[in-house]
Amino acid sequence: MNDDELIASARAAALKAYAPYSRFHVGCAIESVDGEVVTGANMENACYRLGICAEQSALTAAQHAFGLQKIMRVVVAGGGLGVDGLQGEHTVTPCGGCRQSILEAAHLSGTDIEILCASGDGQEVEQHSIHSLLPSGFGPNNLEDAG
Ligand code: THU
Repeated sequence: MNDDELIASARAAALKAYAPYSRFHVGCAIESVDGEVVTGANMENACYRLGICAEQSALTAAQHAFGLQKIMRVVVAGGGLGVDGLQGEHTVTPCGGCRQSILEAAHLSGTDIEILCASGDGQEVEQHSIHSLLPSGFGPNNLEDAG
């Protein structure tokens, strides 16, 4: 898929979020090296701390569909719900915890996974990579010293 199509997928996924508490809907589309695409959205809970981010939801779908080691691109979009669908001017970058989870996938593939961050209305897009968003991250390599 091209960038616009992936952003459209992430924005469409955000419409399926369950976010009654924050009312901030996030969607994530993940593309594999073979061009397969899976999506996810955030899912909140009355016990607030149990909420799941869109990226975590999509990463789980990716593991089931083609495996974390085949992830090539992660696309995120988030905002509020308007009459015309997802809205919002500000790009959404993955939270720290989701960066850590994407780093795990990057370790498996040995690649610097590309991350596109879009605003809710899809008009603003930032391009990053997992190593630029999480430099010097703690990863599986650090555990090698456990003995
Ligand atoms: N959220 C995500 O789904 N991904 C992120 O990277 C940032 C935050 C969700 C969690 C919560 O449901 C809502 O956005 C507000 O923080």
